[in-house]
Amino acid sequence: MRSTVLYPLIRKVLFQFDPELIHDVTIKSLKTMGGAPLSLMYKNRVPSKPVEMMGITFPNPVGLAAGLDKNGECVNAFTGMGFGFVEVGTVTPRPQPGNETPRLFRLKEANGIINRMGFNNKGVDYLVDQIRKAKFDGVVGINIGKNKDTPEENAKDDYITCMRKVYKHATYITINISSPNTPGLRSLQYGEALDELLSAIKAEQKLLAEQHGSYVPVAVKIAPDLTEEEILDIAQCLIKNEIDGVIATNTTLARDKVAHLEHGNEMGGLSGKPLTQKSTEVIKLLSKALDGKLPIMGVGGIHSVEDAKEKLAAGATVVQLYSGFIYEGPDLIRDIVKAL
Ligand SMILES: Cc1cc2nc3c(=O)[nH]c(=O)nc-3n(C[C@H](O)[C@H](O)[C@H](O)COP(=O)(O)O)c2cc1C
Repeated sequence: MRSTVLYPLIRKVLFQFDPELIHDVTIKSLKTMGGAPLSLMYKNRVPSKPVEMMGITFPNPVGLAAGLDKNGECVNAFTGMGFGFVEVGTVTPRPQPGNETPRLFRLKEANGIINRMGFNNKGVDYLVDQIRKAKFDGVVGINIGKNKDTPEENAKDDYITCMRKVYKHATYITINISSPNTPGLRSLQYGEALDELLSAIKAEQKLLAEQHGSYVPVAVKIAPDLTEEEILDIAQCLIKNEIDGVIATNTTLARDKVAHLEHGNEMGGLSGKPLTQKSTEVIKLLSKALDGKLPIMGVGGIHSVEDAKEKLAAGATVVQLYSGFIYEGPDLIRDIVKAL
């Protein structure tokens, strides 16, 4: 049976169960399975469409967004499904359990998800070990953040610690300053706090590039809940600090499109279809402000070929999927790659 027909059936069964339980079972199964069987079923049907960004050649422009493979346990399985690249994490220096459960909610009528996971992860050492063991030769972004109990004024130290540990294993590194579920994290997106953080990160990247004899690009991931002026300020700061790329966007705090739905008012970040337009708007503004000086990865509510095309038309060079992948299944990757 074609997987286009199969996935809606699989989803119907999976959606009967608790979302986090299904997530954990799926990750465990994919980890055990690895990439080979999935390649036969999916990857071989995804055409090669190489795209250059940040000095990296992506085999195709559709990647997995951060947060699904938080510990880097399934990189081979996800590329086996046809993703051109996989972003793992967010990982923090020390392991942490994340917020109390329940913390993950499906908003089925809206094709959305609300999560307040809070960077649950097994720590950077575990993730690096997983990537090393995977003998992965594809494009892997490693998304880094700060531990919940690290005071805001020391956030920089957590990013630097993670950078040093992941540098050798990452094709690119993402600085996540836009998760709504770690208190104070999003305040790093503004003014002096952002400038200080990015200049420290740039200095560290230069040192590491010398030490390792290889340059690993750094991208910054931003929120969708920003004013036009804030987007302009961020763009200037990214250019000034010679950051290599920007990922737009993370989940939103807005609830206007879902407040009337079951779980619509849960705390956390909203993703999926209700985010599509908002993140595209941010990409448009960002693209204008950056004026080609930095490339953009577009993410937020991509559930169809059209959604992906809109992100690219708004100024993105490549795209990432999370919620769309959960709702539509792996065939969405092939459909988008084929259509571009
Ligand atoms: C359950 C869940 C967990 C996530 N965890 C992270 C994370 O750890 N780090 C991060 O940068 N983004 C995280 N995200 C955000 C996604 O990477 C993406 O930016 C966002 O969901 C918008 O894309 P989408 O609408 O395709 O889901 C998470 C999203 C979801 C739904």
